Amino acid sequence: MADISSETQPVPQHDILHGKRLLLIVGGGIAAYKCLDLIRRLKERHMQVRCILTKGGRQFVTPLSLSSLSGEKVYEDLFSLTDEAEMGHIRLSREADLVLVAPATADLMAKMATGQADDLATTALLATDKPVMIAPSMNTMMWQHPATRRNLDTLIRDGVRIIDPGAGDLACGEVGAGRLAEVPDLIAAIEGFFLDRFPHSALRGKHVLITAGPTREPLDPVRYIANRSSGKQGYALAAALVERGAKVTLVSGPTDLPCPAGVRRVDVETARDMLAACEAALPADAAICVAAVADWRPEDCAGNKIKKQDGAAPVLRLTENPDILKTLCARPKDRPALVIGFAAETEKIAEHARAKRLRKGCDWIVANDVSFTDGQSVMGADHNRVLLITPEEEFSWPETSKTDIARQLAEKIDHYFMQNQNKD
Ligand code: PMT
Repeated sequence: MADISSETQPVPQHDILHGKRLLLIVGGGIAAYKCLDLIRRLKERHMQVRCILTKGGRQFVTPLSLSSLSGEKVYEDLFSLTDEAEMGHIRLSREADLVLVAPATADLMAKMATGQADDLATTALLATDKPVMIAPSMNTMMWQHPATRRNLDTLIRDGVRIIDPGAGDLACGEVGAGRLAEVPDLIAAIEGFFLDRFPHSALRGKHVLITAGPTREPLDPVRYIANRSSGKQGYALAAALVERGAKVTLVSGPTDLPCPAGVRRVDVETARDMLAACEAALPADAAICVAAVADWRPEDCAGNKIKKQDGAAPVLRLTENPDILKTLCARPKDRPALVIGFAAETEKIAEHARAKRLRKGCDWIVANDVSFTDGQSVMGADHNRVLLITPEEEFSWPETSKTDIARQLAEKIDHYFMQNQNKD
C-alpha cells in the first residue's frame, strides 16, 4: 500500500512560473548578456525556456551559452533544414505560453511594427498565436526618436506588452532612458503576465482539493482491482484552476500523467489512502471528486502471491470502501464551501446523476456517460461530454476536449466564488 505521506513529485510549487513555457527571442544589443542570468533564474523556477537567437544577438552571446543554461536547442536559422525537420518555425512560435523579446532593439521593434518576416525571429513573431512581450533596449536618442515612438504605439495597439527600459548609464557612454530592464524586473513582468490572465478571478488564493485517477485495491503483492480512469479529466481541471490563481492539491491515484504546473500532487493508491490524503489536505474552499474510486476492495490482501490450486479458482470476498465524496460533504466543521462530484453513468445519465447528488450530499454534480462505444470510453479518452447539475440549473456541454470541459467548469466555479465572496 502506498504511504500517503510520500510524494513522487518534487514538492512544489504553487509557483506561478513552474512548468510554464517561454520563447525568448534574444536580439542584438549589448544587454543580451542579461538574458543569460534571466534564463538561469527562470530555470531555477522550473520554467521551460527555448531561445531564438538573432544574427545581431549572436554578436553578444553564443548559442552554446544559451543552450547550456536553458537545456534546450537554440534556434537561429529560418532556412535550416535540420531545424525545420525537428521543429518547424510555426510550431516553435506556438509551443510557448509567452514570447519575450529581450533585448528588443529599435530595428526589431520596427520590423515587428511593420510585420516584416525576413529571419527566424521576425517570422516566429508574426506566426505566433501567443502573447508577446518586449523589453526594449537602445540608446536614449533612438528610444526617444519619433520613429521608435510610432513603432511603440503600433505595437501597444497590436496588444504587445512592454517592459519599460530603465534609465541610467548606457553602454554607449550616454546617460538616459534605454537600458534593458534588470533581471528581477523582467521576472516580475513575466510573473505579472501569468497572474493577470484572469485579473478578476475570485479563485486567487483559494485552496481547491481535487481527486483524480483510479484507485488500486490490492489482492496480493502483485495483483489489484482497478478501473480504466486515466486521470486526464481531473488533471485538466487542476491546471484550469491554477490558471485562475487557485492553490490546488491534487490527490491522485496511479496515472502516467505529469503533474500540472503549479499543482501540489499527493500520490495514493487505494481508496482508504485517498480519503486519508484528502482529510489531511483540509481545510479547502472547494473539493472536486473526479477520481474513479473503487467502490469495493478485497476483504483481505494476501501477504504472498496467491498460488494456483489445481482447478479451484479462489473466491474473492469484497468489502465496501469509504465514500470520499460523501465523507467530505458530511464533515461537520470543515466541509468545503463548494463540493462537486462527478457521476460516471452508463444509462439514464441525468436521472441517476441527480439522485447521486442528493444521496452524496454534494452541491454540484458533473454527469458523464462512460459506456463503451466503438471500443472507446470516456475513461482514458481525450474528450468528454457532460451535464453539470446544480440545485438551480443544469448545463449540457457538447463533446469537446477534457481541457475545454475543465476550463468551462473552472469558470463556473470562479463565478460561484465571485457571487458568494461577500456572503461570509
Ligand atoms: O480519468 P479519465 O480517464 O479522464 O476519466 C474521467 C472520469 C470518467 C473518471 C470522470 O469524468 C468521472 O466520471 N469521475 C467519477 C468516477 C466515479 O467513480 O463515478 P461514480 O458515479 O462511481 O461516483 C460518484 C462520485 O463519488 C465521484 O465524484 C467519485 O469520485 C465519488 N466516489 C465514489 C466512490 C467512492 N468510494 N468514493 C468517492 O468519492
